[in-house]
Amino acid sequence: MARKKLIAGNWKMFTLSAGAAQLAKAVADELTADENLLVAVCPPFPWIASVAAVVKGTPLLVGAQDVYPAKEGAFTGEVAPEMLLDAGASYVIIGHSERRHVIKESDSLINEKVKFSLASGLKVIYCIGETLAQRQANETNAVLEQQLSSGLAGVDAAGMANVVIAYEPVWAIGTGVNATTEQAQNAHAFVRSQLAKTYGENVAQAVLIQYGGSVKPDNAKDLLSQPDVDGALVGGASLKADSFLAIVRAAM
Ligand code: G3P
Repeated sequence: MARKKLIAGNWKMFTLSAGAAQLAKAVADELTADENLLVAVCPPFPWIASVAAVVKGTPLLVGAQDVYPAKEGAFTGEVAPEMLLDAGASYVIIGHSERRHVIKESDSLINEKVKFSLASGLKVIYCIGETLAQRQANETNAVLEQQLSSGLAGVDAAGMANVVIAYEPVWAIGTGVNATTEQAQNAHAFVRSQLAKTYGENVAQAVLIQYGGSVKPDNAKDLLSQPDVDGALVGGASLKADSFLAIVRAAM
């Protein structure tokens, strides 16, 4: 089955308002509609609405980097799915390793975020990935299996139509050391086999599985040509229009 590819830029805690608008415009200006390719940028919360306004009417989609699993309420500092949708976001990244390891988010909070976001109408980019120590201890598949089952608990086959998995080995994030094509393909094939066990082969074949971790213009083509690599979640290289667009072109 031919799957689309999704190239998403995770801007993390970078950009100020003017730079965010310029970057979004520079990317959007170069994009042409392609039915096999989805492209998104995920700015910091304060710029989501302004970036969404800049890219309105272009193929560039907007996502958020986090969300809180409630409609509204006394949750100081948090942002609800409905607010993200209202601001113009259609995707949300959940379970990123920086939130798991730096912010210490628990599996159960991550699972609540996934379920509530889906129920609210957001598409979820659910991130999973092993640390270097886990890879060296041959625990990669066990970690991926655990993160898939805990994060997607309670998500049914219909819900999976709005879930993208991002495989981001922690040791490859921001290090300049990307997974080899073989490491990426093996992990993605394993993820797909786990999805098939839970949801059946048809659902598993339809789910997009992105690779993330030091994706750059010079390694994107090889990574994206792997049969189970359906796109990229790009950090550092998404902060410059030229490098992000080069990765987008590598997906075409
Ligand atoms: O979410 C994307 C990310 O964690 C990868 O970052 O800078 O290695 O592309 P980077």
